[in-house]
Amino acid sequence: MMKIPFNRPVPVGNEEKYLIESLNSQKWSGRGPKTIQLEKLFKEKTHSKHAFFVTSCSSALELSCLLSGIGPGDEVILPSFGFVSAANAVILRRAKPVFADIDLNTWNLSAATVEPLIGSKTKDILTVHYGGSTAGVDDLRKICESRKIFFIEDAAQSLGASRGKLPVGPTPWTSCFSLHDTKNISSGEGGIIATDSAELASRIEIMIEKGTNRQKFFRGEVDKYTWVDVGSSYVASDLLAAVGLAQLEKLEIITQRRMAIYQQVREALGDFGGRISWQQFPKEIIPNGHVLAFRVDTERRDQILSDLKSHGISATFHYVPLHEAPFAKAIGVDQSSLQNTFKVSYGLVRLPIFYDMTDKECAYLIEKTRSVLESRLS
Ligand SMILES: Cc1ncc(COP(=O)(O)O)c(C=O)c1O
Repeated sequence: MMKIPFNRPVPVGNEEKYLIESLNSQKWSGRGPKTIQLEKLFKEKTHSKHAFFVTSCSSALELSCLLSGIGPGDEVILPSFGFVSAANAVILRRAKPVFADIDLNTWNLSAATVEPLIGSKTKDILTVHYGGSTAGVDDLRKICESRKIFFIEDAAQSLGASRGKLPVGPTPWTSCFSLHDTKNISSGEGGIIATDSAELASRIEIMIEKGTNRQKFFRGEVDKYTWVDVGSSYVASDLLAAVGLAQLEKLEIITQRRMAIYQQVREALGDFGGRISWQQFPKEIIPNGHVLAFRVDTERRDQILSDLKSHGISATFHYVPLHEAPFAKAIGVDQSSLQNTFKVSYGLVRLPIFYDMTDKECAYLIEKTRSVLESRLS
């Protein structure tokens, strides 16, 4: 029996070389040469004006909530079908998360699911680009512009994805990327916060340095550095930037391979006579092969996952609805049911996908998934 892990991070080029250079540079802390190169390359590849390498996407989300200025009494609309870091970023500011449903086809927030929740207390909308898809974002941006709401893009999964001719990234507010091991591009742990706003960028530079103007001091713009704003220790080590840089250099090759695997599996399985459904991408959206997942009847999902495991395939579920979580209940931000979230969360089968999956592994994945679906969905 073949064993296919859920994910397999691998070096793709200069990881070792850059890591050794970094080890020998005597600059192991943050904002060193590798960080500067990583941020420059990220800006080039995503067309973003400003980008900062931070400890994680969770940190980038916390920074975004800090930047938006939310506090007690304010509300932030976000998907329940999302990662816990987004909800924590809101709670840490003592604001209230208001969980919105997703669209059943795109698995993202949409204007239709968000608009009914907007009220006078809504200060931010935080959307998740599931599987790198920005479906719904244009409408949400328009809503935010017209109502002066701060818009946060949780683009943790989005490096390498694009909308029309533009990569995911540029925004007048903030977009937050993850370089965690499980993502297409990894620095082990790490994240990037990007913005096209010079004003936000100058605050981010301070906030990530514990609220000090340390970077201005290093550039010789002030004669000593001091505490000038709220902040924390969000700067990530240059050793991690070295790994992230090597990976980012290969973004196109990694994305191409993941998309090839994604398309091969999706085409081979089809829709199984209408018994499985895939995430729908509006035509201008080009995803990045981050998530290989389809939805089945919620009653059958767990059995399918366990059958796949018995064939050595580490298939898994994804987000459990945040609005049903024990902590949401404990702090009174649970809500009545969100039907599409329920169907996607409890019906999702997430198959392994990673850059160096071999053709043999891919064929095995298809063959076993097909046979499990045949036996469980007939
Ligand atoms: C949508 C989303 N947001 C945020 C995160 C958190 O990323 P990090 O581990 O870099 O903090 C994840 C991680 O899986 C995620 O999927």
